[in-house]
Amino acid sequence: MPDLSTRDAKLVQYLNEAYGKERELETALQAHIAMTSRPPYRKRLQQHLTETRRHAREVERRIRQLGGGDAEPMQLPGPDALSKGASLAAEVGSRAMAAAKGPLHAIRGTGEQEKMLKNAKTEYSEEHEEIATYSAIEVLAQSLGDRDTARLAAAIRREEERMARFLAGLIPTLTKAVVKEEVPAAERRTNGSSRAGRGRASATRGAAKRSQGSARTGRGASGSARKTSSSRKAGSTAKGAATRKASATRKASNARRAAGARTAAAGRKAGTGASRAATSGKRKAAAGRTSAARKAPGGA
Ligand SMILES: [Fe+2]
Repeated sequence: MPDLSTRDAKLVQYLNEAYGKERELETALQAHIAMTSRPPYRKRLQQHLTETRRHAREVERRIRQLGGGDAEPMQLPGPDALSKGASLAAEVGSRAMAAAKGPLHAIRGTGEQEKMLKNAKTEYSEEHEEIATYSAIEVLAQSLGDRDTARLAAAIRREEERMARFLAGLIPTLTKAVVKEEVPAAERRTNGSSRAGRGRASATRGAAKRSQGSARTGRGASGSARKTSSSRKAGSTAKGAATRKASATRKASNARRAAGARTAAAGRKAGTGASRAATSGKRKAAAGRTSAARKAPGGA
């Protein structure tokens, strides 16, 4: 085991962590490919498996160039921290963990689409862990004047970001496929089901009732501020509805009364008119009689 400077030991430590992750994901990707029935997704996974294997080779090569070991890069910090046997055991452990996850992933979800969705979510999360790892390596290498490692880390990070973007676009598509596969068309409603609406209405009525009850018993004052506020709101909603109803009843009654008054007034007016006409007729008749009487004595 060569003696490394603190600088190179730190670079090797970070590269070892990246290498371990690449090997772990190689195993996970193989398991996911076997479960993937969508051709474009499967193709992209196979492509990323090839990239992942290349990443592992490139990182391993850089570790060797820095003097960090031979065929098996170390798993943990510092070239003196672990023997080669121990580092090999750590890597085997990491791959064994990934291999154990494979069959576990095979039983996730209820349907085929859901299994793929869950795998895509796991891959999305793993890609972001790798992006963080390579981003840290890039800055570490830049800060230590190691241009080759910085360039390598940036190139790998860009490929991980491309994969993450692909997965970000795929997750909504797979979610819609789960809906189509598992939820009957009649139940794919917008804004929740009518049942949920009824639930909300009943909750409001319940809150109003509770508010009335607590007002009667005086429990409202000792309740939590949030509960009291919600009860008050529900109470005021119920109160508002009652006020609106009473006001509408009053308006209708007033309107009826006004209409009645108008009818009566019209009736009175009509009556007065008739009576005036009768009076005027009587007067005219009397005048006629008087005139006839005046003319009669002379003319008879
Ligand atoms: Fe990756």
